[in-house]
Amino acid sequence: MNESKEIIKINGVSKIYNTGATKFKALDNINLTINKGEYVAIVGPSGAGKSTLMNIIGCLDTPTEGEYILDSVNTKCSDSKLASIRNSKIGFIFQSYNLLPKISILDNVELPLHYLGVSNKEARERAEKALDKMGLSKHVKHKPTELSGGQMQRVAIARALVSTPQIILADEPTGALDSKTGKEVMEILKSLNDEGNTIVMITHDRDLAKRAKRIVTVMDGIITSDEYNEQVQEVSL
Ligand SMILES: Nc1ncnc2c1ncn2[C@@H]1O[C@H](COP(=O)(O)OP(=O)(O)OP(=O)(O)O)[C@@H](O)[C@H]1O
Ligand SMILES: [Mg+2]
Repeated sequence: MNESKEIIKINGVSKIYNTGATKFKALDNINLTINKGEYVAIVGPSGAGKSTLMNIIGCLDTPTEGEYILDSVNTKCSDSKLASIRNSKIGFIFQSYNLLPKISILDNVELPLHYLGVSNKEARERAEKALDKMGLSKHVKHKPTELSGGQMQRVAIARALVSTPQIILADEPTGALDSKTGKEVMEILKSLNDEGNTIVMITHDRDLAKRAKRIVTVMDGIITSDEYNEQVQEVSL
C-alpha cells in the first residue's frame, strides 16, 4: 500500500520532437505535482503542449529530459513495463472516444481488464457494472456506431473506470459533443471526483476549466500559471 499523497510528480520534464533536420521543444522544463483526489484542468491554446503533456502523464510517451514519478514509481523503464503501468494506473477519455467500432460496448469496456489478466467472468461483471453506472445497461449488446455521441463518451468513461485506475485522464472530453451532452459529461467527471478519483482534464476551453478545482495553464511548452480555483463553477444543465 502506497501512502504518499502525491500521485503525479513531474520533475524538469522537457519533450523535444525531431522532425527531419529540425527539433521542436514542445515542453520546456515542466514541474508539476498532483495529489491524490485532485481535479486539475490543464488549459492552454492550440499548440501549447497540452496533449504532449497528457501523453507523458498517461505513459503513452516518455520525456526527452527530466523524470516522471507516477504513484511513487519512476516511469523511466522498458516499453512493456510502461504499458503495464499505464494499463493498471490510468483510465483514458479522449475527444474522439477511441472505441473499437466492430465489437459491442460491453466488449469494449471489458478490454482493459483482459489486458490486466482479469478472468472472463469477472471482466464481464465489472464491465456490466461500469456500464450500468453510466446508465447504459440497456445498450450493452450495441456497437458504438449504434449510439449517440454522448452515449459513446459514457461508454469511454465506463471503459476508463472499469480497471479502477489511480488517475482518470481526459483530453478534450466534451470536444465532439453538443453543449448539453458536454455538460452531462462534465457532471459525471465531477461526481467521479467527489467519489475520490483523481482527474486530469485537458482543454483549450477556459470555461470548462473553471469546473476543476485547480487550473494549470500551459503556453508554448511552459506552465505560466497554476492556481486553485476558489469558485468551482457548478454544472447547470
Ligand atoms: N509528433 C510530433 N512531431 C513533431 N511536432 C509535434 C508532434 N506532436 C506535437 N508536435 C508539436 O508540439 C507542439 C505542441 O503540440 P500538442 O499536440 O501538445 O499541442 P496541444 O496543446 O495539445 O494543441 P491542441 O489544443 O491543438 O490539441 C505543437 O507545436 C505541435 O506542432
Ligand atoms: Mg491536443
